Amino acid sequence: MKVTAVYPGSFDPITNGHIYIAERAAAVFDEVIVSVLVNERKVSAFSVEERCEMARETLGHVKNVTVDSFNGLLVDYVRQKRAGVIVRGLRAMSDFEYEFQMALMNRQLAPEIETFFIVTDPKYSYVSSSSVREIFHFGGTVEDVVPRTVYERLKERYNDE
Ligand code: PNS
Repeated sequence: MKVTAVYPGSFDPITNGHIYIAERAAAVFDEVIVSVLVNERKVSAFSVEERCEMARETLGHVKNVTVDSFNGLLVDYVRQKRAGVIVRGLRAMSDFEYEFQMALMNRQLAPEIETFFIVTDPKYSYVSSSSVREIFHFGGTVEDVVPRTVYERLKERYNDE
């Protein structure tokens, strides 16, 4: 049986840590859909289209990964895609409580969908999209933790301000 997994997130912007998780997921599942959340209530640095473009640009080398966006409830989207699995990355214990709660909530809503956690590479354990944005904004170095194309877009976004 073919198993499709959805890897959801804000990806604002996608980091090397996200790419690592998507690659690992692609090695386990037949198909992985990296799905960017459309959240009108949250101010994001990049538009959904930009976030999807960056994800496509940086995951094009993984044949069984596609990029999409979603709004509303994640479990509704997962069902619509006929995927049985939600993938989330874990960086540290501090992620666990939030992720555990979300997984239980999603299980309550859709018992047939399984959440799989993939542990990050320790070298990305401290990397988050929000820290990337903040460090870049204040002139710090982020080239080691985001792909080149994301770095270029950060420059366009923040250096134009
Ligand atoms: O990268 P993020 O911001 O930690 O991803 C969070 C995400 C997108 C997975 C989560 O906010 C989500 O699934 N939102 C969709 C709305 C939903 O289904 N909420 C119930 C889950 S508790």
